[in-house]
Amino acid sequence: MASPRTSRLTGFYKLGVLERRRRLLELAGLPADGFAAVDPGALTLDVADGMIENVVGTYALPFSVAANFIVDDIETLIPMAIEEPSVVAASSNAARMARPRGFTTTLTAPVMIGQIQVTHIADVEAGAAALRGAATELLAEARRLVPRLAERGGGPVAFDVRILAREGVDGGVAVAHLHVDCRDAMGANLVNTLCEALAERVARIAGGRAGLRILSNLTDGRTVTVRCTIDDAMLASADAAGPDVRRAIAAASRFAELDPYRAATHNKGIMNGVDAVLVATGQDWRAVEAGAHAYASLSGTYGPLAVWKERPSGDGLEGVLTMPLAVGTVGGALHVHPGARLALELAGAHSADRLAALCGAAGLATNLAALRALATEGIQRGHMALHARGLARAAGATGDLVDRVAAELAATGDVKVDRAREVLARLAGAAVVKETP
Ligand code: MEV
Repeated sequence: MASPRTSRLTGFYKLGVLERRRRLLELAGLPADGFAAVDPGALTLDVADGMIENVVGTYALPFSVAANFIVDDIETLIPMAIEEPSVVAASSNAARMARPRGFTTTLTAPVMIGQIQVTHIADVEAGAAALRGAATELLAEARRLVPRLAERGGGPVAFDVRILAREGVDGGVAVAHLHVDCRDAMGANLVNTLCEALAERVARIAGGRAGLRILSNLTDGRTVTVRCTIDDAMLASADAAGPDVRRAIAAASRFAELDPYRAATHNKGIMNGVDAVLVATGQDWRAVEAGAHAYASLSGTYGPLAVWKERPSGDGLEGVLTMPLAVGTVGGALHVHPGARLALELAGAHSADRLAALCGAAGLATNLAALRALATEGIQRGHMALHARGLARAAGATGDLVDRVAAELAATGDVKVDRAREVLARLAGAAVVKETP
């Protein structure tokens, strides 16, 4: 799909599901049955049975679109699959604040690391030196094993060695790292195949025994950096002036830099956005999670993946996120999962780089939204309002009764499903009585 004319979906949340679909179909130029891919049953039992073992059903999540994103000057719809209320609304709201300049991204080459562990090396220094000496030859062999990847401009690009232990239960231990540019593939299969193919030769050269051969999920050679600036005027809320919100968000960011307990929650807010896009687009989100948290600890202390600082000009905030993002637009579940293909289409993400950029932008947006809420009215008011709508629906409310029941629950602060049923019974009864002549 070409990028939509705009991602500014004013009033979108007020429409019914079918109306929303109609609007997106038109905007994104999708075929009329485009959303059949996320209808119940679109992932058939047969296909699901071929994906994993012991299948007894399929499992659904809400599929949604976050609005207002401009990423690298391109209007972009951000598909999200997530069970948590308020993530989609919050990220759309943050993206609206960032709209004047949008999000800008820079990416490293999509280089993954494969590890070959070698144990029981008698002289680990000599073993490592021998491996370093054979690097060119080993790289050439690795390249020969993946000719098609090389034709697409990727392939093995570097080989290095780290000494892990000089002695101990496993004797001298070293690990060889094969760095592979995976282009648009996430690359797990590719890298694992290469490591398995090279392992015996690597162990022989080092004078030890081949141990594990597997990619590392700490993909610090495959990162995305996302930046945005937000003007004070955008930060202001009903009860707080822009400069106050700016100062409070910068202070919240420093809190995450000082305290791993806070940094974990700060990063959870980032992963709310990142994971929602990963799940919608059929990615291995566990791999990205593992990489993100390992990366956040690389300095020796767990820290935030994104930081916010007051702009030197004194007006507004600058946010910067850097994190590893190993994603793919070919291979994996994408061959078979209809919803994942639709999500990539909606996002206009035809390369792994673009998809990683969008995940990073979604993460920076959810982080900003969380910090702004925490720094002003707190997270619960907005959360509860959305939760109340969910409970109103669960209690059986439809149409405008959803908002009326939710408003009453939120106003009393008693946001429980039993209470929603009571309120619904009263309001629905009143509605019936009113209609009776
Ligand atoms: C909740 O899902 C995410 C937050 O806890 C993130 C944060 O505290 O920054 C609100």
